[in-house]
Amino acid sequence: MTIGIYDSGLGGLSVWRELRRQVSAPLIYFGDTAHLPYGDKSPDQLMDYFRASLAFLESRGCTGLVVACNTTSSVVLPRIKHLVKLPLVGMIEGAVEAASAVTKGCIGVLATQATTASGVYQRAFQDVLPHGQVFVQSAPALVPLVEEGQVSGQRARQALQSYLEPLTARGIDTLLLGCTHYSFLMELITELLDGKIQIIDPASAVAGEAKAALAGIGGQGGTTEFWVSAQPERFKATAELILQEELPPVYLKE
Ligand code: DGL
Repeated sequence: MTIGIYDSGLGGLSVWRELRRQVSAPLIYFGDTAHLPYGDKSPDQLMDYFRASLAFLESRGCTGLVVACNTTSSVVLPRIKHLVKLPLVGMIEGAVEAASAVTKGCIGVLATQATTASGVYQRAFQDVLPHGQVFVQSAPALVPLVEEGQVSGQRARQALQSYLEPLTARGIDTLLLGCTHYSFLMELITELLDGKIQIIDPASAVAGEAKAALAGIGGQGGTTEFWVSAQPERFKATAELILQEELPPVYLKE
């Protein structure tokens, strides 16, 4: 089985790096960089991008899919998951399970505007923790910063401070990273929260879920083919910066 990993850009690499530790299947990563960021797009646009990306990944031979994008998982998958033929795993279930397992009952979620507006996290936590409290904060400046490789400077710090402050003011005990790009801001978020709040990056939980759900991908160390829909050189350079490793060539989907 070849597994596709899909995101708007670099964010899904946080799931990819966990997935490749856990599975031996060949992987194909696709970042839809021509349409970045997804967070400010309409449900219809996100649906179109997903359909085109899925068709591309299928044409490359993918027989399973990890939607490593909370925005698509929140807005698109609830509408069309039942129509997609190949087995797929999104972000929401794994993220909710991972945060619910550790929280004392007050959860903050940082997410894109589209994810926040979808109400998916608010509803999912309500189901699992009916007596819990959930506050979802949209953080529109963060994806562009990660895409520029600005994961540790003053701009990222200031933006994060402004998004975290309303959540810490509510007394959250757990912060869920509700966008795959935010994994690359983990160091800064950890520093700003000063050990007082548990931070949940769902990447590893989602990779585990994918391993269990997409049969026959156990083992370790498959190869990955990388594709984007715009600016492959830029993607490769920034990916190498934030992952701190060299990547194979990144191809352009025309
Ligand atoms: N990384 C994606 C997510 O998890 C999309 C972010 C974006 O392009 O706005 O939501």
